[in-house]
Amino acid sequence: MPRYQRHIFVCTNLRPPGNPTGCCSAKGGEQVRLALKEEIRTRKLKPWVRACTSSCLANCSDGVTVVIYPEAVWYGRVTLQDVDEIMDRHIMKGEIVERLLITKLNDAPRRLAPLDVRPAEADAALPDSKSDE
Ligand code: FES
Repeated sequence: MPRYQRHIFVCTNLRPPGNPTGCCSAKGGEQVRLALKEEIRTRKLKPWVRACTSSCLANCSDGVTVVIYPEAVWYGRVTLQDVDEIMDRHIMKGEIVERLLITKLNDAPRRLAPLDVRPAEADAALPDSKSDE
């Protein structure tokens, strides 16, 4: 099993229409998750990076909420338009996307390591099925 260098959790929690708390599903959480997965696939990063659904991350008013581990960086109000920047800067280069940070949930900005991509490992670690849904 691959050991992911970055694990992206995207809230896709759904609440009934009219619920005053709102939800990330109504703000496009599933679309954001699918766009991240597509970027991971097209950039051939599946051995190192994974994007998964999450239930409510208790940050509903600032959704779509995304948290990326192992650094535990929390982003809020994430839209489809932010996916490329998250991939280019945070995932690939280890740069924090400051404008999306949820300040109440993050410690002081940290310096992250860039992704360590080794093509030979990618071939060996790529899953042979669509079982990563
Ligand atoms: S519904 Fe997404 S953080 Fe609560």
